[in-house]
Amino acid sequence: MEIVFKSLPHDDALSFAREYMGFTAEFSYKLARQITANTETYLADLGALTVGTELTFSLSGAGPDNQVSIGDSPETPVVGRVKNRPNVFRLLASGDGVIALTRNPTSIEQWNIHLQTVKKHRRKFQTDQDLTFVFDSQASSECERIFIWRFRVIDPAPMVGWYDPGQLTRTAMRVVTSTMFGRNSDYRLMEALAPGSDQHYDYTSDFQLGRDASAELDASKPLREEIWLDYIGDVGDGWDSTYTLAYLLSQPYLEVTNPLEYDFARFQTKRGDILVFGGDQVYPTASRAEYQRRLVQPYETALFRSGDSPPHVYAIPGNHDWYDSLVSFSRLFCQKRWFAGWQTKQQRSYFALRLPGRWWLLGTDVQLDSDIDVPQIDYFREVATHMQPGDQVIICTAEPHWVYAKLYGKDDANFNENNLAYLEKKIIGDRARVVAFIAGDEHHYRRYESGDRIQKITAGGGGAFLHPTHGEAAEKLDGGFTLQPNSYPPKEVSQRLGWSNFKFPGINPKFGILTAILYVLTAWTVMANVGGFGLSKIWQAIKTTLSTAMVSPGAVFWILALFIGFLMFTDTHSKRYRVVAGTLHGLTHLLATFFIGWTAAYISVSLLHPWLGHWMRFSFKSPGQLTFSLIFMLAFGWLIGSLIMGIYLFISLNVFGHHANEAFSSLAIPDWKNFLRIRISANGDLTIYPVGIPRVPRTWRKRAHNEPGSDFVPDDIDLSSVRLIEPPITIKRPASETDPIPVEAAPAPNS
Ligand SMILES: [Fe+2]
Repeated sequence: MEIVFKSLPHDDALSFAREYMGFTAEFSYKLARQITANTETYLADLGALTVGTELTFSLSGAGPDNQVSIGDSPETPVVGRVKNRPNVFRLLASGDGVIALTRNPTSIEQWNIHLQTVKKHRRKFQTDQDLTFVFDSQASSECERIFIWRFRVIDPAPMVGWYDPGQLTRTAMRVVTSTMFGRNSDYRLMEALAPGSDQHYDYTSDFQLGRDASAELDASKPLREEIWLDYIGDVGDGWDSTYTLAYLLSQPYLEVTNPLEYDFARFQTKRGDILVFGGDQVYPTASRAEYQRRLVQPYETALFRSGDSPPHVYAIPGNHDWYDSLVSFSRLFCQKRWFAGWQTKQQRSYFALRLPGRWWLLGTDVQLDSDIDVPQIDYFREVATHMQPGDQVIICTAEPHWVYAKLYGKDDANFNENNLAYLEKKIIGDRARVVAFIAGDEHHYRRYESGDRIQKITAGGGGAFLHPTHGEAAEKLDGGFTLQPNSYPPKEVSQRLGWSNFKFPGINPKFGILTAILYVLTAWTVMANVGGFGLSKIWQAIKTTLSTAMVSPGAVFWILALFIGFLMFTDTHSKRYRVVAGTLHGLTHLLATFFIGWTAAYISVSLLHPWLGHWMRFSFKSPGQLTFSLIFMLAFGWLIGSLIMGIYLFISLNVFGHHANEAFSSLAIPDWKNFLRIRISANGDLTIYPVGIPRVPRTWRKRAHNEPGSDFVPDDIDLSSVRLIEPPITIKRPASETDPIPVEAAPAPNS
């Protein structure tokens, strides 16, 4: 692949040398001094490359100077050198990367660079490329030339391992601290103090298309007739799923097929002029590093800031964004900066968009306690004064309160629809009509519709692990809403996927470390002398164990502590289930500990001791017996403890409809993703295209240098045409202000 070098004007070269984040401070200073009126600077962009990629440089030229010496390029935490291979650079960590070389020009005809992923991501990412950088004209003078290749190094993340003991501990700690801080200091109060943050954003006229993130909406432009929006919830998990969605959202056009129609109708859709993130933009908990790795890197790789008409992005926070008290979220979305190839506009964690065709979209921030604070109420109250009868409103909220109120409301009064009702009835009132509610938090697609065709949609399929559509479900909701038939994934698929909990130890190998240690500690605190009892003496073994445990305060204390742990883990929504299932679950583990410990004791005392006793003693509490039992218990504690957890989750979900979250987070399924593409057409009709992706790619290929589009493209699946989950849902503009809202289930394809 031949690429013509682009020469950088002197001033641009200087500011690049001074400002580019990939340089070390010393090198930046050194380079800036080297750039004079007599130097020529060339800059090339290599786009996104993965950690572990090697760049091998070679020169073609006539002079003696055709050996690359890399002494003049900076070594940074991101870019390192390879020992004994002077012309090779290796990418070590994610961040802004750069390689800068200075050479006397006359001897050089071209630079050859071989790109190859050799470490860490080599099975997933195909980066092999030979690039040749040439000059459009030969150097005319003996001036010095500086060559700079810049790139972004990414470190694609695996799906979050929710059951890794380290992760379990970190999540628990973050949840506890953020809940404490969330209750005691509310970031939203500070946001509301920012000047000018009380505005809504008007898209009825064509907005300013510019590269500058601070470009304002331009009211002098003609009225906008049509607008496209993308809604995506629960993003920022493993690379494959998050990047697949970012990749699809970034394509200028996307053809979607409707598999439910006999003729596989196709619809041509357009990239959203506005992207709406519906909450939970990062997993497992918010921090600057996690946002970078799990959200920003995939989106920047899909669409980097470029082009003259960047789309805009708005985001509302979910509970996972709140785990650092919204600090990272605000830095990303509330400072009018770039978010990958999208411009951010909002200054608070909630917003209101005025759209063409007399439509409004409101995004709320319900924090951790599902509450809307007073400044937010004031904000929406002000926005509502601009609404007029006949206007229609979509409300985006981070959690589907309509589902939670139905499922958990009877056990926990905190799950209710009061906030939404307040917003709809008291603040908007009869000024406009709320015709659709959209939420994430449940990582699947489900739609409820009322008799007068109001929509309540859950679409949290933006990248996070899949949630089931079977087990825990409310068919009917208050207000006459009924569940529509096309859930995603389909119920049968969800049921089939749930069986994987029987493979829990294999999917969550680190979790077994926890059960192994707990089993060993439990057996250790009890330490009953049961090695002499065979299977026929099971009752004696049980009696001996119980009597030994009961006289040991340590054992009683430890077992009680374990039970409390199990009760804490058990589904928090129903107290009865927590007590009954938690107790049974705890007892099962205790029984397993007993049987494993007894087997270990029996093998060592009754089998190994008579057989190998002359060589090493395996009698009760001898070092040999203790060592054997420890290894035996660790191995079986790992396997059986983990398996019991998987079976417990499977039964809880499939028989009792509980633990929908835990029984699927354990599987970390990256597939069955969804997002909503929304079009408001010139006649004021709004159409929702629910897009489903049944399988996300697992391998990726670096885009060829002359190929347009995202930096990495799928290498195993064709995503050029993805499916609709159900026929598009069209909400028509009312013919008059008092008309009911007509909804069409399946309009004619538009192409
Ligand atoms: Fe979520």
